[in-house]
Amino acid sequence: MLQNLFLVAGTLAPLLQGLPGTDAISTNFTSACEDIASRASSIHNTTAFFSSFVPVGTNLTLDSDPTCGTPSQVTFSDMCRVALNVSTSDQSGIIMEAWLPTNWTGRFLSTGNGGLAGCIQYIDLAYGAELGFATVGANNGHNGSSGEAFYEHPEVLKDFVYRSVHTNVIVGKEITKMFYGAPHTFSYYSGCSTGGRQGFKSVQDFPEDFDGVLAGAPALRFSNLMSWLGRFFNILGTPDSPSFITTDQWVGLIHENILKQCDKIDGVEDGIIEDPNLCDYKPEELMCSPGSNSSDCLTPTQVDAVRQVFSPMYDLNGNLMYSKQQPGGENIALVPPIYTSGQPVVFALDWFHYVVYNPSKDVTKLNLTDYQLAEDLNPFNIATFEGDISAFKARNGRVIAYHGQADMLVSPADTELYYNYVSRTMGLPPTELDDFLRYFRISGMSHCFGGDGAWEFGQGLEGLVGNFSTEMLDPERNALTALVRWVEEGIAPDTLLGTKYVNDTPSLGVEFSRKHCRYPLRNTYDGVGDSSIPESWSCQ
Ligand SMILES: *[C@@H]1O[C@H](CO)[C@@H](O)[C@H](O)[C@H]1NC(C)=O
Ligand SMILES: *[C@@H]1O[C@H](CO)[C@@H](O)[C@H](O)[C@H]1NC(C)=O
Ligand SMILES: *[C@@H]1O[C@H](CO)[C@@H](O)[C@H](O)[C@H]1NC(C)=O
Ligand SMILES: *[C@@H]1O[C@H](CO)[C@@H](O)[C@H](O)[C@H]1NC(C)=O
Ligand SMILES: *[C@@H]1O[C@H](CO)[C@@H](O)[C@H](O)[C@H]1NC(C)=O
Ligand SMILES: *[C@@H]1O[C@H](CO)[C@@H](O)[C@H](O)[C@H]1NC(C)=O
Ligand SMILES: *[C@@H]1O[C@H](CO)[C@@H](O)[C@H](O)[C@H]1NC(C)=O
Ligand SMILES: *[C@@H]1O[C@H](CO)[C@@H](O)[C@H](O)[C@H]1NC(C)=O
Ligand SMILES: *[C@@H]1O[C@H](CO)[C@@H](O)[C@H](O)[C@H]1NC(C)=O
Repeated sequence: MLQNLFLVAGTLAPLLQGLPGTDAISTNFTSACEDIASRASSIHNTTAFFSSFVPVGTNLTLDSDPTCGTPSQVTFSDMCRVALNVSTSDQSGIIMEAWLPTNWTGRFLSTGNGGLAGCIQYIDLAYGAELGFATVGANNGHNGSSGEAFYEHPEVLKDFVYRSVHTNVIVGKEITKMFYGAPHTFSYYSGCSTGGRQGFKSVQDFPEDFDGVLAGAPALRFSNLMSWLGRFFNILGTPDSPSFITTDQWVGLIHENILKQCDKIDGVEDGIIEDPNLCDYKPEELMCSPGSNSSDCLTPTQVDAVRQVFSPMYDLNGNLMYSKQQPGGENIALVPPIYTSGQPVVFALDWFHYVVYNPSKDVTKLNLTDYQLAEDLNPFNIATFEGDISAFKARNGRVIAYHGQADMLVSPADTELYYNYVSRTMGLPPTELDDFLRYFRISGMSHCFGGDGAWEFGQGLEGLVGNFSTEMLDPERNALTALVRWVEEGIAPDTLLGTKYVNDTPSLGVEFSRKHCRYPLRNTYDGVGDSSIPESWSCQ
């Protein structure tokens, strides 16, 4: 168990000292905690459900929606847990929690959500509180993983697009100050996927909310992303369709063939394509010879479908709607089956049923006309694709973005596209963007976590089995503490050291580690050294 990150990390320890006002609660943390519920109800639009002291190691039973998949969460710090209801309009509101650790570092952290979900990500609250942040999370304005709550409820959709996070921050900062008797020193955000989009929404539209933002696999151009996910069904169809490809074929045939063609490009055959931009995959190699009939090859129709999966999506005018799927992620079972379910991916189904059209719409027949309509609708600017983030830069904000290069749910190529769009819009080359925005490409990582690559770099505890060890908080290898160091000490991360644990279980030891480079630099093998150690690679 990691007791206190910044005491351990040493250099950041001074921030723990001399926080004014904390004496009041240190005399009796438990009673101060019990009192905070009634005091918090004085905050505008806020009603507290409860507040209670929770000791480290408690296995909390949670009252979250069953579809959130979080019936319980173990705590990693002594803390005060506060649960609140904040109304955002006469037809909407958020449920939020603040986890206020005894060992507060003075820092504030807001956490994000995923998919279309209205789910507090408790594991992120536990992680943030463990690291000494006063940590908040909200349900994004509705309960459960479905998007059904958006239907004919624009105020609920508005919460999802931006208001939940922003409200959570305003109320969360106020409670933090009320509880500890002093305002926070620095304010941070961490989220992935929809959470990555929420981070960029804050950067673009609420630049004062955070000093530092950690944004993973950002679901930018959200409507187009929904259409792109829906389009895989247009391409592949139902299991009886000639273009359908089975899971076995994706994993055993196509993924293996992609590795055969592209794994060696980076000089190391390790199942990881370091830079998928260099992989010009040719599925024709898998085409059945005339007359042959085997599951070990693909028909011309299937080959064409594979080509389309790995091609960009264009609108009716020939403009790019969404970037291509990058080769490499097609073997991963961590994400819902997006190719093989025989229907549009659930996110796309929900988006078209509950936001673009209505529940009776046959969303198995969507085409480019529908996708264009969805793009044009862009409710509350969910696209989150503003290239001018100068207000965030001007207030000394810092963004660390990251994206798994084997992510099949959100294309990492689209994150590059956004980075380059910011560059052109602001007239700043990458060397200048480096002052406040750094994008790290995480090779071999699936969606937000997991995969064959060195994917653990402190972005959260998801996908990790067992204990987090002290050295995992070193800013050289932890994106969140790296962000803190960048904001507070001006030391920017040049690389993020990722670790692959044996079976993704830290107690089983390290399988290999690799430094991930910031875009547009590319991780390059020196050709001779042990490829499982970071020293054999450099960013070029
Ligand atoms: C809080 O920090 C102190 C050292 O300052 C440490 O002794 C204690 O174990 C920590 N407690 C928790 C719950 O993290
Ligand atoms: C702290 O407050 C709690 C709850 O009000 C009470 O039960 C406990 O006895 C107090 N502890 C001390 C040391 O005063
Ligand atoms: C926490 O409790 C739940 C049941 O409420 C149980 O399924 C889970 O395994 C427990 N977690 C730990 C780490 O003990
Ligand atoms: C959402 O869940 C919370 C508990 O986490 C509950 O208090 C609230 O009533 C639920 N809201 C709806 C609309 O079901
Ligand atoms: C939250 O507060 C609003 C406004 O006071 C109220 O209408 C709603 O019922 C409350 N929700 C819950 C789950 O208590
Ligand atoms: C409180 O809720 C009302 C709508 O119910 C909203 O207009 C107002 O902005 C909210 N206030 C704050 C501080 O969020
Ligand atoms: C291939 O063989 C299977 C089983 O023998 C048969 O069902 C299928 O129709 C054949 N496909 C082609 C394209 O000949
Ligand atoms: C999409 O389908 C609708 C209704 O079936 C049709 O009117 C429209 O022309 C189609 N658009 C394209 C681009 O095929
Ligand atoms: C975590 O670490 C503690 C103390 O070192 C140990 O007792 C426990 O078994 C570990 N848990 C896991 C899941 O590795």
